[in-house]
Amino acid sequence: MVIMIEVDNLTRRFGTVTAVSGLTLSVPTGEIYGLVGPDGAGKTTAFRLLVGALLPDSGRGSIGGHDLLTEIEAARRLIGYLPQRFSLYPDLTVAENLRFFAEVNGLPPPEWQPRREAMLAFVGLAEFAHRQAWQLSGGMKQKLGLATALIHRPRLLLLDEPTGGVDPVTRQDFWQLIGKAVVEEGLTVLVSTPYMDEASRCNHIGFMQHGRILAEGTPQSLIEPLHGRILELVASPRRLVRQVAAADTAVEDIQPFGHKFHLRVQPGTAVMVQQRLPAALTAVGAVVERLAPIPPLLEDAFIQLLHEAI
Ligand SMILES: Nc1ncnc2c1ncn2[C@@H]1O[C@H](COP(=O)(O)OP(=O)(O)OP(=O)(O)O)[C@@H](O)[C@H]1O
Ligand SMILES: [Mg+2]
Repeated sequence: MVIMIEVDNLTRRFGTVTAVSGLTLSVPTGEIYGLVGPDGAGKTTAFRLLVGALLPDSGRGSIGGHDLLTEIEAARRLIGYLPQRFSLYPDLTVAENLRFFAEVNGLPPPEWQPRREAMLAFVGLAEFAHRQAWQLSGGMKQKLGLATALIHRPRLLLLDEPTGGVDPVTRQDFWQLIGKAVVEEGLTVLVSTPYMDEASRCNHIGFMQHGRILAEGTPQSLIEPLHGRILELVASPRRLVRQVAAADTAVEDIQPFGHKFHLRVQPGTAVMVQQRLPAALTAVGAVVERLAPIPPLLEDAFIQLLHEAI
């Protein structure tokens, strides 16, 4: 298997803050790898180290076999980067923005012209080619951003929270495009996201906190240890329900999920909790609508990891 991203013990400090702290990561070619982590986990700093916008204090890394310290130019040529705070040129049209990013990447007109047409068709913006960027909707800007990151035919696409603030339907469209790009262009993708539905679309996920990966695996393997340990509870009043459920010694954690709660219980205790907790709740005047085991979600796994890490 050919490795596209190889990072070994990478560390970067800002004053007293260690933004990336001994980050080790290996992403095979053709894979979509998701970085998930809370605000300040070090995701953006990791991306900036990978594109050579920042130098590490220690550790090493390579992209497509090119060392980040000694061969950054060659590494960069393989990368298409869509930064978290990406900005288009608002006064330029869609087509002009693409031309700009193509030329910045050193593509001559005979190369970028047909590629631009292909990218406009790919992201579905051909009919808006002459619209100025400031007039685009949030979702269209996102798609144009993706097209600019792909214009020079990168081998590795780095997407830092690409769908932040975009509605769920548009996010869905955007992910379909990413999937298509992976298949049609043989891309490798490293993407950070706060959304678990997006994380679950990745081949592998790394949970990042305090500058390092806490746990890593396929979405399936990360939720596997929680099978049989998540109970869904619908009951009220909520504050009282929380108090009583948290007091059950087999309940490790209780989290609100919309109008429901998810309880994480110790291994092998789900049946017991299901039997005794409703009685404890009704005894104090709470009303229990439902308490039942459910398949664990990636959110449940993430919450557990964050709690264990503190
Ligand atoms: N240029 C900088 N100067 C000083 N501190 C910085 C700088 N860049 C990042 N940091 C700090 O490093 C830590 C990691 O920040 P980073 O932006 O990499 O996190 P993140 O995971 O991308 O967060 P978010 O989800 O909010 O985008 C934070 O504590 C941040 O304040
Ligand atoms: Mg960030």
